[in-house]
Amino acid sequence: MLLSHMLDMSGVDSVVLERQSRAHVLGRIRAGVLEHGTVQLLRMVGLDARMEREGQRHDGTLVVWEGRPDFFIDTRGLTGKRMMAFGQTAITEELYAARERAGGQILDEVEDTVIDDVLGTRPRVRYTRRGRVHELACDFVAGCDGFHGICRQSIPARDRREFRREYPFGWLGILSPTPPLENILYARHTRGFALASQRGSNLSRYYIQCGPDTRPEDWSDERFWDELRARLPRELADRVATGPSLEKSMAPLRSFVSEPMRYGNLLLAGDASHIVPPTGAKGLNLAVSDVFYLHRALVEKYTRNNDVYLEGYSATALRRVWTAERVSWWLTMLLHEFPERDGFDDKLRENEFDHLCRSEAAQTALAEQYVGLPYET
Ligand code: DHB
Repeated sequence: MLLSHMLDMSGVDSVVLERQSRAHVLGRIRAGVLEHGTVQLLRMVGLDARMEREGQRHDGTLVVWEGRPDFFIDTRGLTGKRMMAFGQTAITEELYAARERAGGQILDEVEDTVIDDVLGTRPRVRYTRRGRVHELACDFVAGCDGFHGICRQSIPARDRREFRREYPFGWLGILSPTPPLENILYARHTRGFALASQRGSNLSRYYIQCGPDTRPEDWSDERFWDELRARLPRELADRVATGPSLEKSMAPLRSFVSEPMRYGNLLLAGDASHIVPPTGAKGLNLAVSDVFYLHRALVEKYTRNNDVYLEGYSATALRRVWTAERVSWWLTMLLHEFPERDGFDDKLRENEFDHLCRSEAAQTALAEQYVGLPYET
């Protein structure tokens, strides 16, 4: 949707094919922490009005480590850049509205999609909608259809390489119409990791690390709040405003990259090509940086018949992807409880946290990656 919006601003036509209904898309609670570059890009493409109104400035992160003083990473002070807590679902609502105003084509409930001839000059996409089969001829297919989508699968296995890591737990999350804590907070605790995040002045998002087979329906709101608070220092636990949940869901944690991100005239972006564990909130931001590079590649091709960004797309996007893969893996390893860990692992992890608390260089290194590395020019 963002790519389609940006292409339209540059005079390039596109059609968006969506497997789900719009109600389904807008009913899902997704990510919510925007890197500095994402905030800037949304401003540049005129999608910022609601974000400025409803988003929460995010200038630093509290890390609470069981048995230690709370530790604040001052990301704004260390980098000079500001982030924002603002929900992906709200951005998607704004994108639907913007595409509609511009007369954009967003076709929902599209089934049986097949991509053909991406190695030729005129790829085709066949799909069924409302019982009728259609075929679209195009110059490029942008594969933005997520981890379970068909685009990555359309690349023959011999032409791609997959890298993956699974983690033996998930996150159980709730959205609640309650005022969030003042700061986004990451908690390391022997009961498991916990995270306090924000979606608005009266909308909070919390997560707790849970077993991989956890069923949200087994968790009453009360049980969730009790477990969350048990993982926080007393003084912070007392400040959590509990209330009803608007949504409760479970997400597995995995790291995954499929390379390359380009196969002929098929260009992958976002989860279609890579997944990060949510620790560090990189997933949405990576999808946005992919779109930035992909938009630039296509516009350069159409306006100057110059292939240089198109040819560099995969390598450029993947450099940023691997940075996010490393940071989110590192934060996941640092802050979660692992069933198979021993004393040596725990000592290393304690030392890693000590180093972070004492070294401004270490804080700056983390902060510059957390606020997001600049896009490559
Ligand atoms: C969210 C926020 C985070 O800081 C994070 O690391 C993961 C998720 C969130 O608000 O959804």
